[in-house]
Amino acid sequence: MFYPEEIVQEVRSRADIVDVIGQYVNLKKKGANYFGLCPFHGEKTASFSVNPRMQIFHCFGCGKGGDVIKFTMEYENLTFPEAIKKIADDVGYKLPEVSETAEQKRDNDLRTRLLDINKRAAVYFYNSLRDPKGQTGMSYFRKRELNDDTLRLWGLGYADQSRDGLYRYLKGSGFDDNILRESGLISFSERGVYDKFFNRVMFPIMDANNRVIGFGGRVLGDGEPKYLNSPETRLFDKSRNLFGLCYARKSRKKFFILCEGYMDVIQLHQAGFSNAVASLGTALTEQQCRLLKRYVDDILLTYDSDGAGINAAKRAMPMLRAVGINTKVINMKPYKDPDEFIKAMGIEAFQDRIDNAQNSFLWLIDVLKQDYDLSDPAGMTQYTNEVASRLSDIKEPLERENYIKAVAREQMIDYGSLRKLVNHMGDIKERNQSPLNEHIYTHTSFKEKPDKKQKKETAIQRSEKQLITWLQEKPELIPKVRDYILPEDLSDVTMQKVLIMVYKETPVNEILDTFRDSDDDYEKVAAMFNGNLLSDDTDEYEFKRGLLDVIRNIKLTSLNTKIQNEVDPHKLTELFRQQSDLQNLEL
Ligand code: GTP
Ligand code: MN
Repeated sequence: MFYPEEIVQEVRSRADIVDVIGQYVNLKKKGANYFGLCPFHGEKTASFSVNPRMQIFHCFGCGKGGDVIKFTMEYENLTFPEAIKKIADDVGYKLPEVSETAEQKRDNDLRTRLLDINKRAAVYFYNSLRDPKGQTGMSYFRKRELNDDTLRLWGLGYADQSRDGLYRYLKGSGFDDNILRESGLISFSERGVYDKFFNRVMFPIMDANNRVIGFGGRVLGDGEPKYLNSPETRLFDKSRNLFGLCYARKSRKKFFILCEGYMDVIQLHQAGFSNAVASLGTALTEQQCRLLKRYVDDILLTYDSDGAGINAAKRAMPMLRAVGINTKVINMKPYKDPDEFIKAMGIEAFQDRIDNAQNSFLWLIDVLKQDYDLSDPAGMTQYTNEVASRLSDIKEPLERENYIKAVAREQMIDYGSLRKLVNHMGDIKERNQSPLNEHIYTHTSFKEKPDKKQKKETAIQRSEKQLITWLQEKPELIPKVRDYILPEDLSDVTMQKVLIMVYKETPVNEILDTFRDSDDDYEKVAAMFNGNLLSDDTDEYEFKRGLLDVIRNIKLTSLNTKIQNEVDPHKLTELFRQQSDLQNLEL
């Protein structure tokens, strides 16, 4: 859904940011602003501020900031249009129907009808499970130790033994064969029309918004295939959804637990680990990785501890790494998967495994052993070479050193020789490395990503922020300041763009909107309007001195840069003149 700019403005102007944020954060008024504990990072002192006049928020601790839409997106994990919709609903504003092309309309209608069919099918299966004919299904779930709340939360059901019960039910509800064919729930063949699922326990697959988009059905015993999934439809895209995401995204946990099976996810949620998700019967895809990144930066992998599970984990790690997600591995031994582990060992034992999750690089080094015959000296050498090669891909010297130590200790390889081997390989690789040769597959950096907000702000950036804040708060200063500070005097392009707009007295929200597509810039810009270094009761004289200092600082830095880069003596003379003029600056 695409909302035109006027609608975005309208929704934003109807919501007061203090009210909206006040629902989630305990805000206290201090001066002109409100302060509270930041909901986006753990903290004990309030560094999260809300500015009612500009209708923006900013956290001095973690750097998050923006308008009411941005807050809603971040807090509720919503996309931009979803956030607009939520705010509009909350303030009781009816969003106008957005006009769509005929083709879009057909497609939307199709999706709506498929959603309807899936929802009805889910209800049908759900009720069948509770019917006397659903006895076998019910006792199957009982055997797997699922309680009533769980059956209900996940809408679990049963497809009974009749071959066309669902077909007749849906026909009776007014759906024709064409749309039923598209739903993937009914098979049409020469031999007749049959339900795709029969005599299976049914797991509805929901999208992030709890809408049923397909099903997984499991045989009750040992038959093949063990799990049958809905085919891909206009609604159901296995590569873009994750089982359990609709609940995990609301769990407010900082990490997700990624496992292999539907049953694992359900069992984990039942045990209170409401941040578990799984892919949909296929290997993890790139789209799923990006989807996950929308919610978390860290993932614990709990793939099955068998060969297939190990391979799946090996494959998933670099993919998650590539979208910026850190991974660790939860050891499930001696059990196969989280479902079996929890039932055998209990919740605390699983929590313990979470707390002791293994760094995925060290985990990988460990499982590589299975590919070599370590009882044979030649095999041992090959293994050591492989290990050294992977270690040598770590570019950061301190990090490499730490990993060499850890690997030497864990794998009982002589530290001195390993270190020598690794650094030797590193040198060779460095020489042969072309820039294109960087492979993420061996990327091993598991230390905290350098946090962009932690980057130290320079004095000049602080001055620039201060200037922008002041100009925004006191537009009457603009005509004076404009004589001294040109946009090009600011230290980077983003700041320059903002200053141009501030000079035109563009409202803060509109300025922020121009940066909506770039997360980094967006937060940087939001921070620019929170640059006030003076307290609220600063008097006029102090303020004026502060302002002069800031202008002088910025101009001087800019002039110095220009002087450094200038060779033309004529222009240099002018620059020097401007430099000395600055000493006598007055407003
Ligand atoms: P349970 O045996 O019920 O505990 O299931 P599980 O999740 O432990 O099974 P397994 O580890 O064998 O499979 C993990 C996931 O792979 C399942 O949840 C399914 O999504 C998928 N899967 C398993 N078997 C099949 C199959 O035969 N066909 C398809 N399409 N997917 C399967
Ligand atoms: Mn299992």
